[in-house]
Amino acid sequence: MSDLPANRSTVHPIPFQPSFEQIPEDESETAKELADTLRGIMQTTFDDHGHAYRSVHAKGHGLLRGHITVLDNLAPELAQGAFAKPGTLPVVLRFSTNPGDVLDDKVSTPRGLALKIIGVEGARLPGSEGDVTQDFVMQNAKAFTAPTPKAFLKTLKLLAKTTDKGPGLKKALSAVLRGVESAIESMGGESGTLKSLGGHPKTHVLGESFNTVVPFLYGPYYAKLAVVPVAPSLTALTDQPVDLDDNPDGLRQAVSEYFSTQGGIWEVRIQLATDAEKMPIEDASVTWPEDLSPYVTVARIEVPAQAAWSSEGVRDIDDGMAFSPWHGLAQHRPLGGVMRVRKPAYEMSSGFRATHNGCPMHEPR
Ligand code: HEM
Repeated sequence: MSDLPANRSTVHPIPFQPSFEQIPEDESETAKELADTLRGIMQTTFDDHGHAYRSVHAKGHGLLRGHITVLDNLAPELAQGAFAKPGTLPVVLRFSTNPGDVLDDKVSTPRGLALKIIGVEGARLPGSEGDVTQDFVMQNAKAFTAPTPKAFLKTLKLLAKTTDKGPGLKKALSAVLRGVESAIESMGGESGTLKSLGGHPKTHVLGESFNTVVPFLYGPYYAKLAVVPVAPSLTALTDQPVDLDDNPDGLRQAVSEYFSTQGGIWEVRIQLATDAEKMPIEDASVTWPEDLSPYVTVARIEVPAQAAWSSEGVRDIDDGMAFSPWHGLAQHRPLGGVMRVRKPAYEMSSGFRATHNGCPMHEPR
């Protein structure tokens, strides 16, 4: 990723055109099937635990509060939406791993980061009118595992079948898959499905870089967004192994230990689309080439030392908040099939949590 100064104009972004989005006729059926499958996962974990967890990314590893500072003198094409004017706003962060089960961390899976910026101004997306938040919901990858919602539905149905299976069996499966995954990666490939089933390297979550993976409007343009650790204390954790063998909550404990004594700094970087074919909207599995459009820093997130996991945090953030790419500004409208079908899925999931836990979602102001 680029370390160019934030205020330098690096690329010539192309304006978004409605024809870049192509909606298949049966998309609403796929969206319904996705939401139904996710609801099934939630019902299973609710029956097991008596508590409603997110249908994916059920397990949180860190619940943090801090600030975001939008940089001064951004090039005009970068000063859009939530980043239109310099200034500092509060943020909430939730680190997670992707299964819909609350698993032993030995079953090592891809990681997520949800970011909520509080106090943004501007016209709102449908369903998030009246709020003042902008969410970015990310994974530690640069492209999605599936090109389309329909392809993702197939993977999700496979994953749904593993919900509630004996933890011993899952741990054994995870160890095998990690071996297969590193074999595939050493041959230059990467298998999202294997990683999702427990084949992710057992590394520290705070060393990861995160990405929206799929694009959203960026004012008149469109873009992906990355959150990248820059504090040396965080970059030291990149690819750093964590012992997850004897501690079912090893990741959560590693995050808590880190934030008990120190804070962290991340950069928020934007990759503007410059080529409609090489940076497509409807194929979520494409990594956009960084030689054509490098990521450029637009803001910095600072999180002070704090209790990263507490009963208060669980009540207010893990259970009391929902993060969704559809919470935000019209200028950051999510784009493409995967983004479109996420809207009903996230609404279903947060609605289920609110009803079953008897605690409505609170959108901070
Ligand atoms: C068709 C594609 C997808 C579907 C159907 C889907 C569905 C969901 C649902 C239902 C939730 C739980 C929401 C809640 O209860 O509050 C969720 C959470 C999450 N998703 Fe997705 N998702 C999809 C794609 C993605 C992608 C592309 C990313 C990352 C780039 C992502 C990252 C996350 C993360 C990090 C969370 C946890 C958010 C939190 O901490 O509250 N998802 N997803």
